[in-house]
Amino acid sequence: MADSKPIGLGIVGLGMAGAVMVRAAARHPAFRVAAAAELQAEPRQAFARDFEANVHSDISGLCDDPTVDAVYIATPHQFHAEHATLAAAAGKHIILEKPMALTLADCDAIIAAVEKAGVHLVVGHTHAFDPTIRAMRAIIASGELGRLGMIASWNYTNYLYRPRRPEELDTTRGGGILFNQVPHQIEIVRLLGGGLVKSVRAQAGALDPARPTEGHAVAFLAFEDGAAASLVYGGYDFFDSDELHAWISERGSAKQPAHGAARRALLTRRHSEAELRTLNYAYGAADDGEPPHQPHFGLTIATCARGELRGSVDGVLLYGMDGRREIALPEGPRFAGRGNVLDDLAAAIRAGQRPLHDGRWGKATLEAALAIQTSAREGREVMLKHQVAA
Ligand SMILES: NC(=O)c1ccc[n+]([C@@H]2O[C@H](COP(=O)([O-])OP(=O)(O)OC[C@H]3O[C@@H](n4cnc5c(N)ncnc54)[C@H](O)[C@@H]3O)[C@@H](O)[C@H]2O)c1
Repeated sequence: MADSKPIGLGIVGLGMAGAVMVRAAARHPAFRVAAAAELQAEPRQAFARDFEANVHSDISGLCDDPTVDAVYIATPHQFHAEHATLAAAAGKHIILEKPMALTLADCDAIIAAVEKAGVHLVVGHTHAFDPTIRAMRAIIASGELGRLGMIASWNYTNYLYRPRRPEELDTTRGGGILFNQVPHQIEIVRLLGGGLVKSVRAQAGALDPARPTEGHAVAFLAFEDGAAASLVYGGYDFFDSDELHAWISERGSAKQPAHGAARRALLTRRHSEAELRTLNYAYGAADDGEPPHQPHFGLTIATCARGELRGSVDGVLLYGMDGRREIALPEGPRFAGRGNVLDDLAAAIRAGQRPLHDGRWGKATLEAALAIQTSAREGREVMLKHQVAA
């Protein structure tokens, strides 16, 4: 594809994730928002008002659309495998939201479909695409701080009490933090730690019988080279770890402390939770624009022989022999890391540059996420065998 011609992007699913990506793609010089597919009328109509683009009521119409070169799939988890294989068979390049799929067999099916069609696949967005995490990775990989010893990733949110569809509260159907939230942490520590997780030990649980899926987890990931990571996630809307990050939200915007507000809002709601998702988050519902600060996923600290790193509100903090210094990032947050996802797909399509977050990388992350479930259920360490290096 000639560099001058923008890549036509079709967005599948105009919900919360799709809405953010539409705005990121509209600002990205390599892309043109060519089309969208969405089952629900309201977000579809809002999109049609904003873009001179084709609008489809389902993915099959978008796959037949000749203006679409690449698709961004942001449908609920359980459709990822079906939708990615459909898109690949139609010859479209793909950005596939996390988690890549719900089973390793489905990951294999996606990888096979992508390879057969000769298209590119980027599994993202996860917070491993955040500019701060990429900058931390570059510093670690440069060797300037010596050997990496450990990584801590802590995040406390209101995840469990945001409006949820029924399947999102059922782990057997892909619900809960272990499919939705912890994969961000796994991707972050795999990127920082070099990718090759050797084993996983974890505990996870559901503390609220009214929302019977995992709301908390603690996991220990051992890397092949002796480094290790500890992941802690709590989604009960009590403590909010943004309190430790100057009250800057995950996307990088200022926020007000609101402990317990998501739980209280559910008690007084006048719509079903599924309706609330569309009303609150779908395309056309809200647009808070480009966040002014860096996105983040809680507190991430990397410990190396000659220093420690963590993300700050606008950059990376390096704690070394000579004290603390802040490393500014050359670019702004670029739609909460989505700019980096789009860059990676554009580099693959235009320069044949293999994306790091390809199908095998996405499968390796899902393997670790499933291992957390197995370890918690069976009370044992789980050895991994599908890991790939960063
Ligand atoms: N990377 C991130 O930070 C991030 C953030 C949010 C969501 N996500 C991921 O994105 C995916 C979607 O999550 P969400 O929160 O946006 O969900 P959502 O429910 O807000 O949106 C999903 C949309 O897909 C539509 N849809 C379902 N089936 C469809 C089909 N066959 N064709 C066209 N549209 C269809 C639904 O009507 C809905 O509007 C999930 O897998 C989630 O993990 C990622």
